[in-house]
Amino acid sequence: MLPSTRVAKSLLLVPCWMISRTVERGTDGSKIYRRRFIFGECMLKKKNSIKIWNPGRFLELSGAYWETCVLHAAVKLDIFTVIRKKRLTSESVARHIGANEKAVLMLLNALSAMKLLTKKGESYSNTSAALSFLSKESAQYLGYIILHHHGLMASWQQLDRAVKSGKPIRAGIAQRNKEERKNFLLGMFNIAMTFAPRLVAKIDISGRKHLLDLGGGPGTYAIHFCMNNPGLAATVCDLPTTKAFAQETVKKFHLTDRIDFKAVDYLRDHIPGTYDVAWLSHILHGEGSQDCQKIVRKAVSVLKPGGMIIVHEFILNNTMDGPLFPALFSLNMLLGTNRGHAYSENQIKGMLIQAGVKKVRRIPFQSPNDSGIISGMV
Ligand SMILES: C[S@@+](CC[C@H](N)C(=O)[O-])C[C@H]1O[C@@H](n2cnc3c(N)ncnc32)[C@H](O)[C@@H]1O
Repeated sequence: MLPSTRVAKSLLLVPCWMISRTVERGTDGSKIYRRRFIFGECMLKKKNSIKIWNPGRFLELSGAYWETCVLHAAVKLDIFTVIRKKRLTSESVARHIGANEKAVLMLLNALSAMKLLTKKGESYSNTSAALSFLSKESAQYLGYIILHHHGLMASWQQLDRAVKSGKPIRAGIAQRNKEERKNFLLGMFNIAMTFAPRLVAKIDISGRKHLLDLGGGPGTYAIHFCMNNPGLAATVCDLPTTKAFAQETVKKFHLTDRIDFKAVDYLRDHIPGTYDVAWLSHILHGEGSQDCQKIVRKAVSVLKPGGMIIVHEFILNNTMDGPLFPALFSLNMLLGTNRGHAYSENQIKGMLIQAGVKKVRRIPFQSPNDSGIISGMV
């Protein structure tokens, strides 16, 4: 039942993060769909494609975590940075990372099979994608989000327990150790960097002076809004444990004179200052609907008349059964929060309307992981 003949390739129209869908034929003639995620290229999308289930696809999906684990292990062991632009034997890689040579040989062969390394004779080199996205020396390094995903795996393995109890499996972000917090926050930076320039260009905040980035994490969006709007200043409000990461990121972009950080717990504290724009990116999914309403009201209360509120979220359709990533993300929140989940477009619009926001609308934008934007005015 293994796929044999490649018959078609359809691609999705999303810059930077390519989702390619390859349709192959199983030996029984049935269609087998494979998806690939590739950053950094232009792409095309086939819409309304139908997922066909057959034994081959069930087996492929059920064992897909093997490939995931190979990627995670290689990033954890920093194989791609060790190899750099060189060609190294397994013996040499094993010496560099202090690991068992026979096991390293198997790992390097699997990475070659996954087209992350190229094997020639007895030596291995990085493919251009691995060099761009998996080597720590690259500005496009995605290792933090990969290590963050790795950290989530133990909880995902217990999804059945969470479904039975309705309770989270892992500790919230505030309770995690420094390394996990770093992978989480710089992982948010990794994701946002893949499409923030495209996203901020879609949102007209020209003439506005001060943006609140509530739960702004490393401040990636505040940075990109400021870079796209020369007269704009921004304040990132987040938990005190985020301060050092946000300040370091802002410094890298030479924006310390325009972006400051305020330690705020948006559930408990008053938000200091007044603003022309409030940007709420990926914070509502961490809370239950009552707390979301509280956060939205607080954000609205610090907006000047005529101010704009913008919510960026993994938005479910109104029947809550798709798109796929937001539906899966809801389960990720079940595993990691007390009441968080992904919200539908109507639910988010409802929160804004209840807080007195007018002209609530969806801004046409779709990120690679199906996040979307809803805005309104006060
Ligand atoms: C998923 S991250 C999103 C980060 C950023 N907005 C982005 O979209 O890349 C959620 C952020 O909310 C922050 N956060 C969580 N609970 C918070 C609270 N009670 N008060 C303030 N910030 C909080 C976290 O520290 C984290 O930076």
